[in-house]
Amino acid sequence: MTTQAQAAICYGNDRPFTIEPVELADLKPDELLVRVVACGICHTDLAVRDAQLPVPLPVVLGHEGAGIVEAVGNAVTVAKPGDRVVMSFNSCGDCPSCAVDAPTYCYNFYPHNWSGRRADGTPSMMRGGEPMNANFFGQSSFATHAIAHELNVVRVPDSAAQVPLERLAPIGCGLMTGAGAVLRSMKVRAGLPIAVFGTGTVGMAAIMAAKIAGADPIIAVDVNDERLALARDLGATHAFNGRDDAPAKIRELCPGGLGYVFDTTGINTVIEQAWDLLAPKGICGIVGASDPADNLTFNEAAFMAGGRTVMGILGGDSDVGPFLCELIEHHLAGRFPYEALIETFSFEQINEAIAASESGRVVKPVLVIGTE
Ligand SMILES: NC(=O)c1ccc[n+]([C@@H]2O[C@H](COP(=O)([O-])OP(=O)(O)OC[C@H]3O[C@@H](n4cnc5c(N)ncnc54)[C@H](O)[C@@H]3O)[C@@H](O)[C@H]2O)c1
Ligand SMILES: [Zn+2]
Ligand SMILES: [Zn+2]
Repeated sequence: MTTQAQAAICYGNDRPFTIEPVELADLKPDELLVRVVACGICHTDLAVRDAQLPVPLPVVLGHEGAGIVEAVGNAVTVAKPGDRVVMSFNSCGDCPSCAVDAPTYCYNFYPHNWSGRRADGTPSMMRGGEPMNANFFGQSSFATHAIAHELNVVRVPDSAAQVPLERLAPIGCGLMTGAGAVLRSMKVRAGLPIAVFGTGTVGMAAIMAAKIAGADPIIAVDVNDERLALARDLGATHAFNGRDDAPAKIRELCPGGLGYVFDTTGINTVIEQAWDLLAPKGICGIVGASDPADNLTFNEAAFMAGGRTVMGILGGDSDVGPFLCELIEHHLAGRFPYEALIETFSFEQINEAIAASESGRVVKPVLVIGTE
């Protein structure tokens, strides 16, 4: 049975998002129909709007959705109708990366997340009788309803029954990526220094995770002083404005170099400066969306001699269910207090919410699309 829904359509960066009626397809055996209650806005949605990623437009974006399951296909075991769920990225489940629980590096990431269709090529959404690009990150949650998949849905554990879905929604991408980069990808060791460049959602999550890991000092760098103040509240021991020669200040603080630098800005000159701060065996993790034509330049001898690593990171090496439940437990225990980043907006305010993110005023806008 098809489902009538309202979805925010993205046409590109020259037009606002508009909420329009759409129709969701019948469920396949491994799919779930989720009534969306809330969805975070991530910088990656805006990178797609700005054609920095190879996703066809127009499209229904939104990849930090949370909601309540309305129906499931007959092969679904992850959740049942009525369950509260969080959605994350999708994967194929049987490529060499998926086989070793590294689904963020799924060999078939594009068809499962960015092609605008399901991986088998069929549309999951129609508008006015024509296929609409959707299935973004296996969900497209800027909508009242989403079709999600067995592999990108996490049932909210009973321990988090009191945590509202509007707070749980954003853990499915930005928070997972920043925390996972520290705890899983770079495996930050206690007592070593880390600097985080860019304190949006991803950087703030990395800072909270660095505190959990026991890194010391934890240095935040941004060009927005209000974000730097918040970064200190969340665990940064030092904060420097990137416009005031932050690398020089970091060298003064850590003359032996840094065990880890983590870039969320995606700006190649910032990444190169950060890389230059590494101690021997240091790791430079990079996550930011960048201009597809940009390159990085590193000194070959320094790269080799210190055993340094540059690490591309997707989704913080999350394995979806186990890691999101781990983050929820950190949140419940007060170690991952990311609620400080969130401001909620109604679904109709989607363009205001995006503007608040782009101006730097709000770190994590969350759209409240339905009720629990
Ligand atoms: N690789 C992944 O899996 C993954 C997942 C989620 C997000 N992302 C990407 O990660 C990036 C960060 O996401 P976000 O949601 O935190 O974005 P954001 O825009 O909220 O944060 C970026 C921060 O960088 C700061 N900044 C800009 N220029 C700077 C400079 N020169 N020096 C220091 N700081 C500077 C900004 O003020 C901002 O606070 C985005 O590019 C996003 O697309 C990647
Ligand atoms: Zn795969
Ligand atoms: Zn994202």
